Amino acid sequence: MNEKLNLQEIINYCKENGFIFQSSEIYDGIQAIYDYGHYGSLLKQNVKKEWLKEMIQRHNNIVNIDSSIIMHPNIWKASGHVDNFDDLMIDNKDSKKRYRVDVFFEQLLSENKISQDLFDECNNLVNNNDLEGIYKLFVDNNIKCPISGTCNWTPVRHFNLMFNFKDIDDNTIYLRPETAQGIYVNFLNIQRSTHQKIPFGIAQIGKAFRNEIIARQFTFRMREFEQMEMQYFIKPGEDERIKQYEYWKEQRLNWYVNILGIPKEKLRFKPHDKLAHYAKAAVDIEYEFPFGFKEIEGIHCRGDYDLSNHEQYSKKNLHILDPETNEKYIPNIIETSCGCDRIILMLLCEFINREKSEDKERYVFKINDNLAPLKCAILPLMKKLELTNVAEKIYDDLKLKYMCSYDDSGSIGKRYVRNDIVGTLKCITIDYQTLEDDTVTIRDRNSMEQIRVKIEDIEKCL
Ligand code: GAP
Repeated sequence: MNEKLNLQEIINYCKENGFIFQSSEIYDGIQAIYDYGHYGSLLKQNVKKEWLKEMIQRHNNIVNIDSSIIMHPNIWKASGHVDNFDDLMIDNKDSKKRYRVDVFFEQLLSENKISQDLFDECNNLVNNNDLEGIYKLFVDNNIKCPISGTCNWTPVRHFNLMFNFKDIDDNTIYLRPETAQGIYVNFLNIQRSTHQKIPFGIAQIGKAFRNEIIARQFTFRMREFEQMEMQYFIKPGEDERIKQYEYWKEQRLNWYVNILGIPKEKLRFKPHDKLAHYAKAAVDIEYEFPFGFKEIEGIHCRGDYDLSNHEQYSKKNLHILDPETNEKYIPNIIETSCGCDRIILMLLCEFINREKSEDKERYVFKINDNLAPLKCAILPLMKKLELTNVAEKIYDDLKLKYMCSYDDSGSIGKRYVRNDIVGTLKCITIDYQTLEDDTVTIRDRNSMEQIRVKIEDIEKCL
């Protein structure tokens, strides 16, 4: 029997086995900020590598950029984030706890504490920005704070999600809430220096920061997280927009299925009810987490919103010249934007298995081969010099070609268990037969089957 873990079990698993830790844990942690351990960070590197491969190796008209986190403050005025990037919040005066209205109602619905009708009504009011209506909904329906148990609410307010601080000259500086703007303000530099013609894309992986009001569900909603965004610059026009939008929707869904190995039935498209301030059309790709279908990636038609605004605020010409028609225009943008941390959480939810047979139980991280943190572990059967000498030699031969580990501590059974837990693909065991005929056993993580191969043939089996 094969079981998936619940969220709390996944959180424990991540901590015990070196995937993800609460940040600043010895100081009792800091809300919604996490650190990746050895296996988690290797997994993350592999996901990022696959994303870059998909974007800039599969597509010869997509190039890469690494822009700064801190940028000119006017960028965030032009982008609309200073005025529009906020959530609706409400505070309970007794518990002093602050809630994000839509997420709070989602939580109440999932706990069957409110009806679907009430949830839909709240959603409508949020979408219509009806602050008084939402407050009335709280009061009329006797919605209580789960901590204080009272209905003593403040009015509903907007809460800007950008972190900011003052620099030495007293300017307000923002930490970027998305990586996209670093692409827009560099788009002409990149286009000219890489000789791209429309349509072309610019990809970027980098940290983003949001002062999220409610931070729950582990790494699903973090205040510091990593995005993998690609901005695709196209000719204006409805036909082209629809063509490219549909193309990228399909490409991105296929990536999750074909490259990350996520079953198709665990993914779905969800069009946005409420469009972000920059979007003309938008859809999310959602994955079925243990806590329900939730967004992992957004695909947005941003039109010329961003570049036009940057042109206006910077007073620089951001038009592009079409060499074929001699026409000058501001390109339109299709954006694909996913959160690397959400993808990692999805992979942990999907591929950590508890396998039960009659008398045994094992935990195994059955992640796809291309993403496994370790390709192989080199394990001398016992810590005896004649065995460790050979094992160390094999390790030295492999360690710069593959991400692998050397482990000679504890029983061989325990070492297999440890490697299954972190998803190591193959365990290579050096035993006494190795000394006689130069063969080792290679154990497969998924099937647990072992084959015996010559040392010189090990690489053919990896
Ligand atoms: N540039 C567009 C943009 O940022 P978004 O839908 O706000 O769009 C894109 O974010 C992706 O970033 C989301 O689909 C999600 O995977 C990830 N993301 C957003 N906020 C996050 C958070 N607080 N914690 C972790 N990931 C987050």
